[in-house]
Amino acid sequence: MTLKKTVLSAVQPSNQIHIGNYLGAIKNWVPYQEHYDCVFFAVDLHSITVRQDPEALRENTYHAIATYMACGIDPKKALLFVQSHVPEHAELAWILTCHANMGELSRMTQFKDKSQKHGTQIPIGLFTYPLLMAADILLYQTHLVPVGEDQKQHLELTRDLAERMNNAYPSKDASNDNSKDDSSRPLFVVPEPMISKAGGRIMSLQDPESKMSKSDPNPAGCVFLNDSDKEIEKKFKRAVTDSGTEVSAETQAPGVRNLLEIQACLLEEPYDAVLGRYVGKGYGYLKVDTANVAVEKLKPIREKTAEILKDRAQLEQILAEGREAARARAEKLLNEVYKRIGFVRR
Ligand code: TYM
Repeated sequence: MTLKKTVLSAVQPSNQIHIGNYLGAIKNWVPYQEHYDCVFFAVDLHSITVRQDPEALRENTYHAIATYMACGIDPKKALLFVQSHVPEHAELAWILTCHANMGELSRMTQFKDKSQKHGTQIPIGLFTYPLLMAADILLYQTHLVPVGEDQKQHLELTRDLAERMNNAYPSKDASNDNSKDDSSRPLFVVPEPMISKAGGRIMSLQDPESKMSKSDPNPAGCVFLNDSDKEIEKKFKRAVTDSGTEVSAETQAPGVRNLLEIQACLLEEPYDAVLGRYVGKGYGYLKVDTANVAVEKLKPIREKTAEILKDRAQLEQILAEGREAARARAEKLLNEVYKRIGFVRR
C-alpha cells in the first residue's frame, strides 16, 4: 500500500493532443511524478460519446500515450494505461449512475454546450460522461486531479458523489479512519482539483472568446502538438488579436492575452514579465515570437512522440504492464464498493 498522495489525470484521444491540453494539463503532471503516486491514462471510453472513426481512434490512443511519454511521463514512475483496458472504470460508472440525479447532470455546462450540436438526437453518453470521469477518479482513491479550468464543474460533481457514497455506505468502524483495512475507511477519498492559474484556459487562436478545443470547427484556431513547424508558424501568424496595433500595459484584448499567456507558459515565465517585453510593440512581433517559442518547445515533443510510436512492441508492452497494475488496484476498490452495496462476493 502506498502512503503517497495519489495524482490522477487523463486526456481524451478523440483527436490529436493540442497545446491547450499540454499547457492546461499534461505539462503540469510531469513534476508530480517525483513525489506522488501518479496515475495517467487515455480515456478512449469517453471519446466514443461522439462518433469516432475506429482506425483514427486506435491511432490517436497510441498517440496520446506516446505524447504523454514524450512530454516527460515515465512509465517507471507513473501508472500509464488505456481506460478501456480496465473494465472496472465502466463498472464503477454504472454504480455512480445509480446514485446521481438528472438535475445535477443537466447543470453541467460542458453537456449543455456539446449537446447543442446534436439537435434532438443527443447521445446519452454525453449526459452521463461526468459519471465515467468520476469513476476514473474515485477508483484509484485520488487526492489531486490536475486539469484545465473546463473540468472544474466535473470535479465538483465527483466530490459530491464521493461524499454521497461515503455517507450512504459508511465504514464498519467510522472511528478508525487510519486502519489499513479497506472496510474500516470511508469508501472514497474526496479529490481536490488542481487548476493552474497559468495555462488553465488556452483560447482558440481564431476565436479568442472560446477555449481551444480538439473539435474546433476552424482548425486554424487549434495548435496540435503534432503540427509541423510550418503549420505552427502559420497558425500563430494568423492569430486573431484586436483592431489595435500595439500591446498595451493596461488592458489586453483576449487574443493578445492568449498569445502572451501561451508564450509565458511555454517559457515558464510570469505573464507580466512577458507582457513587459511587448508593451508598445506591434502585434506582429508578438505573433512571430510566440510562433518561434512554440516551434522550439513543441518540436522535441513531436520528434520524441514519433520515435516512441515507431517501436509499437515496446509501447504495447508498457500498456500491458500498466493494465495489469491498474486492474489490480481498481479491482480491490471495486470489490469493496460491491461489498458495501450488498452484492454477493464474486
Ligand atoms: P479533454 O480531453 O477535453 O482535455 C484534457 C485536459 O486538457 C485540458 N484542456 C485545456 N486546458 C487549457 N486550455 C484549453 N483550451 C484546454 N482544453 C482542454 C482539460 O481541462 C483536461 O485537463 N473529461 C476530461 C478527460 C477525463 C479526465 C478523467 C480528466 C476523463 N476522465 C479523470 C481528469 C481525471 C476531458 O474531456 O478532457
